[in-house]
Amino acid sequence: MRRRHPPGHPATCAVSRSTDTCPAPHPYTDPVLAQTINQWAVITIVLSGLALVVGVLFIRNGNREAHMRAMLTASALATIFLVLYLTRLGLGYEKKYVGPDEWRPAYFALLISHIILAAANLPLALGALYNAWKGLKAAGNLGNIDAPAARGLFNRHRAWVRWTVPVWLYVAVTGWIIYLVLGRWGEVVKG
Ligand code: HEM
Repeated sequence: MRRRHPPGHPATCAVSRSTDTCPAPHPYTDPVLAQTINQWAVITIVLSGLALVVGVLFIRNGNREAHMRAMLTASALATIFLVLYLTRLGLGYEKKYVGPDEWRPAYFALLISHIILAAANLPLALGALYNAWKGLKAAGNLGNIDAPAARGLFNRHRAWVRWTVPVWLYVAVTGWIIYLVLGRWGEVVKG
């Protein structure tokens, strides 16, 4: 991503800041755009968590059709989140924690667990979706999931989602907490 330079910033300053005419580098070239992307990223991951909970409630009530729609919505929202998150990283926008020192270890434990489980969530969701999709194809329709060709695939779907659902929820909730913490005690560091 090409960085813009602030008005009045001589082109040579991009190479060297050796002269007094070069202003200090702007901490970030377009913070409003990056912040908007960041806000939408957190909105989409929270909504995907809500759609996930709704989807679980649907299947508990035996409504498979609505379960499928809710889970596809949750997956689409999570995909949009990923695109926004990667765009934000590409823009170089980054915040660091500058809050109370006594909360620092707890914040980093939360952040690290969030990052590790967010990475794990992608293959878990793909595994759940893949088996549901294959199961649906084998069954022909959602009223026929006990057909011999489909049963094993839906059993596998159930095995995958035992991990997928809690991990997804943890990532959505902690993502929101991290966003709130950095809103209060975060400082933009990357430009
Ligand atoms: C990543 C997205 C998905 C997640 C997280 C998810 C989650 C779940 C959960 C929690 C259950 C209940 C498991 C249990 O009772 O032990 C379930 C069952 C089920 N899901 Fe999904 N699901 C997803 C996508 C889908 C899709 C796209 C379909 C349709 C093609 C689908 C069809 C079903 C069916 C038919 C069952 C009932 C299986 C049975 O009774 O054995 N799911 N899913």
